[in-house]
Parts: sequence; structure tokens; C-alpha cells
Amino acid sequence: MDRRQFLAVGGLAAATPVLGQGVGAGSMADTADGLFKRVNLVSDGLGLDSREYATLLHEAAMADGFGTDYYSLGGPIAALERKFANLLGKDAAMFVPTGTLANHLAIRKLAGNDRRVLVQAESHLYNDSGDCAQTLSGLNLIPLASGRTTIDLAEIRSWVERSAGGRVETKVGALSIENPVRRMNHQMVDLAELERVCGYARQQGIRLHMDGARMFNLPFHSGKSIRDYAALFDTVYVSLWKHFNGASGAILAGDSKFIDGLFHMRRMFGGALPHAWPQVAFVERYVDSYEDEYAKSWRATDKLIELLQTDGRFKVHKMPEGTSTFFLAVSDVAAEVLSERALRRGVILPAQVGSGMLALQVNPSVLRMAPAALAQVFFESMVG
Ligand SMILES: Cc1ncc(COP(=O)(O)O)c(C=O)c1O
Repeated sequence: MDRRQFLAVGGLAAATPVLGQGVGAGSMADTADGLFKRVNLVSDGLGLDSREYATLLHEAAMADGFGTDYYSLGGPIAALERKFANLLGKDAAMFVPTGTLANHLAIRKLAGNDRRVLVQAESHLYNDSGDCAQTLSGLNLIPLASGRTTIDLAEIRSWVERSAGGRVETKVGALSIENPVRRMNHQMVDLAELERVCGYARQQGIRLHMDGARMFNLPFHSGKSIRDYAALFDTVYVSLWKHFNGASGAILAGDSKFIDGLFHMRRMFGGALPHAWPQVAFVERYVDSYEDEYAKSWRATDKLIELLQTDGRFKVHKMPEGTSTFFLAVSDVAAEVLSERALRRGVILPAQVGSGMLALQVNPSVLRMAPAALAQVFFESMVG
């Protein structure tokens, strides 16, 4: 099957059975034939390389009727905004060039003049955003649940009561919850506690934001739908480059009152890309099928795990509230050496190993090889 035919049948997902063959030795990724064949057990999505990305971008831009945006308004950007608003069950949505800015814009507007914002201590917003909300928006972020995934209702209540009882009135304006939590190996927030916390916050008039960068992985594990998660919150952010293979980009969804005019704030922070379309031109093709592909990916991975465990040198560990991550311990060969050898066979494993275990990510690229072929790559890589 040549590339044109392959793209014509609807992209990678549709072509999976054709691509799902065993691999030989040699650097597949270095040849044109190797395009769209690697299994990437590190990425949140397919982990497209630059040539794969350019191939898909070309194909999208050449399609009849493909339009462009101007300053992130109109064209494929507006279409994506409508699509995600609908998927999330919100009135409206806005494209933002990064998730970092999406979280910041959301809590800035939700909090308004009530400047205390409760966040998870392990969240991206608290650790990995350069204190943007504190520095640029004068918000006071209060980190809760250090070392844990879920904030308990008792912790929220205690901060709300403390804030109400201060000498100077300083209300809690917003609560932001990341789910799943990247720094906790993508574990998900306890569902019952999440519902209690959101219910209490609403009663107290606290506005709610969800960092749902990877939320499309949640329904498979929790049984709760995307819309049901989104309904707990006033605003929701979803990444366009993690599961959906964009080069960058985020969606921020909420009610019309929240989203109307928000593009001025996006521009104020330098976030109105004159041409955003190359970031997300072919994202839409991955969105509708994602939940299904992720479920298939886990089914294939469970078969892989079963096969690996027939060899006593491999031990697998899954977490109780885990989503996309599982751990693989290997004896006899250093995990780094295994990674190097697997790469030569078209399988990307983490290059660095913290605890002696490999933290592997499940994503639809696992469907590019049959589980038996993938297990074979692991077995052969133990030897050389
Ligand atoms: C949970 C979470 N939130 C927000 C972000 C920020 O997204 P971006 O890199 O698009 O700014 C990330 C990025 O890794 C993330 O993992």
C-alpha cells in the first residue's frame, strides 16, 4: 500500500491492520518505508515525527475546501472550536496556542476579584507554568493534596472556612482540578470525591476549572463520559497535541458568557497566532475515533502484558487509579539497554529510567504491531 492509498482510507486508525505486521531489525524510522510504523510507548498520542507530521499536513491542506484562519479566528480553528464545544457539552470553546495559557486564562477570568485559587500541589498549573497566574494575574494559588492525586473535601472545606474567617475578606474564587494528573503517573482523581468536592464548591459559589489535557483517556477507566466530567466544571481545557497529534494547541470550553470576547485576553497574552492552522490542520480526524482507539490499544496492551509475563524476566505493575501508564521491570538486561535495542526495531521506550522500571504509555500507536510481534521485539531486544 503506498502512502496515498494509506491516507485515502482514512488515516492511521483505518490502516492499522495493514500496518500491524511484525518488524525486522534495522532502523525503520530512518527509511521512507518506516513512516507511520513505529510503536511509541512514551507518547500521549502517535508521537508523529517531523516527516510524518509534514506528510499529514500536506494531505490536509491539499483537500478540497480546506480553509485557513486569520489570527486564530475562522477556518479550521472555528470548526475545531465547535466540535469540542459539542463533545464537551458546553456552549462554546476557544482555541488557545498552549494548555499553559488555557489554564491561566480560565482561572484568571473565573476567579475575578476573588483571588484565592485552590489547586492540586502536583498539578501542571502549580509546578510547570512558571507561576504565571501569580505573576501575571495577581492570583494566590493555594496548593493542596501534596504527593496525592485527589483533593479531599475536608481540605477544600478547611481552606474555604479559613478564607471566610480572615481579618480581611479574601474569598476563594476558583478551584482547578487536573485529571488525570501527569505528575502522579497519570492517575485519575477519585470519582466519588471529585463529585463531592465539585458539589460543595458550587454551593459555596466557587467557580470550577478542569485541566483535562488528557481527559479523553478517563471514560475507559472510570466509566464516566466526557460530557459528564465536563458538566462538573464551568470551564474545561483539553490538549490538542497530546492525544490528537497536533503540533501544539488547546481548547478552552465554557458557557457563551465566559467564552464571548475571551479572544481579546488571548491576544493580550500574545496568544493569537496569525496562522494557527498548521498546528492543528489534521487534528479533527483523530478526535471522534479516539476513545475507541484507546480502548483497543489497552486491549492489545493487555495481550502484550500477558505474553511478556510468560517470561520471568519481565514484571508488570499497574496502578489502582491508573490510566495510560503502566510499569515494566526487567531483570538480566539494564532497562536503558533494552530501550536502545528496541528502538532499532521500531519500538520507542523511555530512554531514561528512574526507579529501575520503565514507565510505559498506552496510546493508539500500539495498534501498529500485533501484540505477538510487539512481544517478540521485547524478547529479541533482551538478546542483542
Ligand atoms: C496536565 C497538563 N496541563 C497543562 C499542560 C500544558 O500544556 P502545553 O504544553 O500545551 O502548554 C500540560 C503539558 O504537558 C499538562 O501535562
